[in-house]
Amino acid sequence: MTSEIVHVPSKWRAKHPHGAHLNGFLEYRTLYEESIRSPDTFWAKQARELLSFTQDFHTTRIGSFQNGDNAWFLGGQLNASFCCVDRHAIQDPDRVAIIYEPDDPQDGSQSITYAELLRHVSRLAGCLRARGVRKGDIVTIYMPMIPEAVFALLACARIGAVHSVVFAGFSAGALQDRIVDAKSKVVITTDEGRRGGKVIHTKSVVDDAVKDCSCVSTILTFRQTGGDVPWTVGRDLWWDEEVKKYPAYISPEPMQSEDPLFLLYTSGSTGKPKGVLHSTAGYLLGAAVTGKYVFDIHQKDRFFCSGDIGWITGHTYTVYAPLVLGCTTIIFEGTPAYPSFKRYWEVVAKCAATHFYTAPTALRLLKSKIKKEEIECFDMRQLRILGSVGEPIAPEIWKWFHNFFGSNQTTLTDTYWQTETGSHVVASLAGVTPMKPGCASLPCLGIDLAIIDPVSGEELTGNLVVGVLAIKQPWPSMARTIKDNHDRYMDTYFNIYKGYYFTGDGAYRDHDGYVWIRGRVDDVINVSGHRISTSEIESALLEHPAVAETAIIGVPDNLTGEAINAVVSLKERENPIDIKDELILHIRRTIAPFAAPKAVFIVTDLPKTRSGKIVRRILRKALIGEREFGDISTVRELSIYWDFFRILTSI
Ligand code: PRX
Repeated sequence: MTSEIVHVPSKWRAKHPHGAHLNGFLEYRTLYEESIRSPDTFWAKQARELLSFTQDFHTTRIGSFQNGDNAWFLGGQLNASFCCVDRHAIQDPDRVAIIYEPDDPQDGSQSITYAELLRHVSRLAGCLRARGVRKGDIVTIYMPMIPEAVFALLACARIGAVHSVVFAGFSAGALQDRIVDAKSKVVITTDEGRRGGKVIHTKSVVDDAVKDCSCVSTILTFRQTGGDVPWTVGRDLWWDEEVKKYPAYISPEPMQSEDPLFLLYTSGSTGKPKGVLHSTAGYLLGAAVTGKYVFDIHQKDRFFCSGDIGWITGHTYTVYAPLVLGCTTIIFEGTPAYPSFKRYWEVVAKCAATHFYTAPTALRLLKSKIKKEEIECFDMRQLRILGSVGEPIAPEIWKWFHNFFGSNQTTLTDTYWQTETGSHVVASLAGVTPMKPGCASLPCLGIDLAIIDPVSGEELTGNLVVGVLAIKQPWPSMARTIKDNHDRYMDTYFNIYKGYYFTGDGAYRDHDGYVWIRGRVDDVINVSGHRISTSEIESALLEHPAVAETAIIGVPDNLTGEAINAVVSLKERENPIDIKDELILHIRRTIAPFAAPKAVFIVTDLPKTRSGKIVRRILRKALIGEREFGDISTVRELSIYWDFFRILTSI
């Protein structure tokens, strides 16, 4: 773990003459302390400043973790689509709300102003209403990364419907489960989508998914490619033929602060995916406050978040944060690898993005593919702020990201949060917080962190402590429940350590009070009484020049309790026998002998979810000899896991 500090580059201030929203680190400290000492005052002020309530709230907060009944801004009325669209369209109708960058760069990009966005959202909202969607109904959205997906989210919000976006890479079966659970009357999709030069057959998947869903009466289909698709007359409607029937303005439905805004399914450690439910005002405020202070968003900014709309990152930082703050969001349909590995640089340069927010998994891929000279031609001067999300970012990947995208002149914030937290909870503030490569840094405003000793359940105060990460006080954007399963909500987050929200992650607070995320606690390995984080070993292995990607798995061991196994893919073909010994030695040298893997398995690739996360569950099962893998519907390219399996069994 490095304690190297990277200060906000001096050239950063030249790029940003008006400075950040906060005037330096001391101001963060002061505001943070206020936000913890008087949370109601802090959040009430932020809510009134950043959101537009049509009726002011009378009570800032009620409820407790113990009772699982937290509620915010009671008595307040607002509408999320008004906050994200109308108020900017009124103030500055020609400001660009969305830049769409298609999968194939030859297809040309498209800009949509706030005034146009208001018309699109209103027409679609009118259409949904006409199809019987009412306040509180759940609409399922299964769409690629195109502006119409944003229209769909906001149209639901406009009429008080709850959106449930399902990542357009999920199978028909997974989609069906979510549609049935949500009892959706309407599903919104496209004829097809494009991603990485390939066609995604969205409408066909939806057709398969709804075969046995009696609840679905309408499938509204946006014509994206013009491909031939199956059609059921009466149930299926073309978006373009429908929306033109409805007015270019319909008034937004007044919503209570606590009315649900959306449902998003996410995997738990056990059981089927859980539908995490977020509220209107609290969620939106979390997006606004973190957008403003963590990402230092200003209205002139062009924010590029590569997170797909099917995941929480896409919800909060591709849609809600940039739009609630009135800047431009860049919607990128493609992948980092198509038509070449230079695509992210192309998008940033072409759209003159000021922010680029992505995941370490993409960065690791690019790092192994791109040489500096290949990307020097891109004009990245507008880029001011980089962000990383989703998993710990190894220091060497952090440095590469900072250098290859930011020429070491941007800030880079590693943002730690979860579907359930709604918005960032640990992150450095761009332009304000001194950065440490690989470290999520400090708690966000209003987030009262605790590190808990998992054995005693006691909070570990002070610095230089390791434990599980929890949050001590409610915050507005926390999930309110798991749909139809409040008990699971309580058991997962609040009943483990009474009085705390339990994140499920391990964390270490260093001598400066900076918080390092050590990965899920189920990924922490205990070898002969020594606890070691899988991500710590992975980071060290990634520093070895031969390693492309790796996953560390703890397996039961008669001698040491648990033993460390490393599954590694290499950048180049190396002699697997030699490299295995070398990697074990490397860990002995860089961390400690007890952290050295007992076994190293060399594979051509690692099994990943469609969003790019390594599926350790499958690796763990394979390593302990289990042949039953459970639900593998979320795993990308199953062939990889067969390949892995073959290698293991041949050893
Ligand atoms: O383990 C943490 C990891 O991702 C989990 C949350 O996953 P999800 O709900 O899918 O949301 C991902 C995007 C916010 C966390 O419990 N995680 C997320 N961000 C980080 C992270 N681990 C380390 N560092 C991060 N920056």
